[in-house]
Amino acid sequence: MRTFLALKMKRTKIKELIQKQPANETQTVMGWIKTKREGKKYSFIELNDGSTISGLQLVLDNTILGEDIRKKLTTGACISATGNIVASSGKEQNIEMQPSHIEIFGESDPDTFPLQKKAHSLEFLREIAHLRPKTKTFSSVLRLRHAMAYQIHHFFHQKGFYYIHTPIITGSDCEGAGEMFQVTTLNLNNIPKNEHGIDFSADFFGKPTHLTVSGQLQGELAAMGLSEIYTFGPTFRAENSNTARHLAEFWMIEPEMAFYDLNDNMNLAEELLKNVVQFALNEYLEDLTYLSAQTAEEHQPKDHLLQKLHVVLENPFERITYTQAIQILTDCKHPFEYPVFWGADLQSEHERYLVEKHFQRPVILTDYPKEIKAFYMKQNDDGKTVRAMDVLFPGIGEIIGGSQREENYTKLLQRIRELELPEANYWWYLDTRRFGAAPHSGFGLGFERLLLFITGMTNIRDVIPFPRTPKNAEF
Ligand code: 4AD
Repeated sequence: MRTFLALKMKRTKIKELIQKQPANETQTVMGWIKTKREGKKYSFIELNDGSTISGLQLVLDNTILGEDIRKKLTTGACISATGNIVASSGKEQNIEMQPSHIEIFGESDPDTFPLQKKAHSLEFLREIAHLRPKTKTFSSVLRLRHAMAYQIHHFFHQKGFYYIHTPIITGSDCEGAGEMFQVTTLNLNNIPKNEHGIDFSADFFGKPTHLTVSGQLQGELAAMGLSEIYTFGPTFRAENSNTARHLAEFWMIEPEMAFYDLNDNMNLAEELLKNVVQFALNEYLEDLTYLSAQTAEEHQPKDHLLQKLHVVLENPFERITYTQAIQILTDCKHPFEYPVFWGADLQSEHERYLVEKHFQRPVILTDYPKEIKAFYMKQNDDGKTVRAMDVLFPGIGEIIGGSQREENYTKLLQRIRELELPEANYWWYLDTRRFGAAPHSGFGLGFERLLLFITGMTNIRDVIPFPRTPKNAEF
């Protein structure tokens, strides 16, 4: 067995070293070599351990370390370095290390290691998603992903919301759109049949089951006892949309609140989004600044992402009805690809026109036609629209979908029947309207859509470690 001597040393993370700058102290760092430059007398290594975007410069005295070890210090190799921390004379960093000892944990063959010093395209990096966390861009995205998850939990906790775990395997379709992945242990080569077709009594759960598209329905049950709850879990959609904004497996944050009307719901959504944007700017400015420069297109300033985040923070979200939006989109005479008419489901081009061109700030659209929204939304007195709300963001389009819920048992049942949903599957959901029904509201925030906005990335496959999309479940 190979023993690693360095593991006996106390490791300091590079983030901590950069913060504390403990000059003239001996420290041990561990990480991966980003770059190496060899000089006659000295060699320079940039070491990164993922704790922060910055690396630590190691200045190696070529006479101290033998030739055999120096040869193995290549890009991608994993090492431990122990040495004195000194003030750096370089412009790029304040401190550097002069290692007196280096141990190699894992070598990396420079001829076959796919991540070279040159910039790689995001498309290429997607093909090697198992190595992406080693790059600056993806480690930044992943740190921000962590930060947003952390702050979302913090936000709800300090407001007195309780985190509920809703099931991943379900027998009901929350959105009623039929875009669900089936869960079965039936032998696909020998499917049991009865007079109605497939005999699901022989299946694991004794009935058809699917991966959930949303935790909302169960979230509503919990809110009917705890008042204010939220879920934060994976959701699955078998929609065949191969776009830059859709995943087959994505994460959703779904708060559900008793005694909230649509206005309260909109206020909460706006407060949540502003809160997490502020947190990212306060705590992760280094990553944001890097991503801003990386994602800037030719016509954009280097700080375009930071500017966009500030627009969200500093402006109240515009709130208009769907009907008003249709009016604006018709009046503007913009040549949209998809036609605009009352009753049409808005496309991303329409949403982005409203946000980016017309209002130049986030927009919340309310009161959609009931035909294009889910069965559970509260029906307005006009008989045509429901108390829905979609929050639209610059560069993204819809980031949140939500509504006030129909708490009236008769109206809800009638809607389930009109839409020919399998009524028997919803008995428990309908029960909440029979026993102590409360006016209530909630919404779903797509976690990866939020991350698209926060990181400035333009393809949703680049904000989740291992994306699941049609015909792609690698890694
Ligand atoms: O508008 P949606 O379908 O709403 C619901 O699922 C409700 N049950 C939520 C609720 O009221 N509790 O989805 C909510 C959000 C969207 O606004 C979008 O941000 C995200 O989930 N989303 C997706 N994100 C990535 N890939 C997909 N295929 C997505 N579909 C929806």
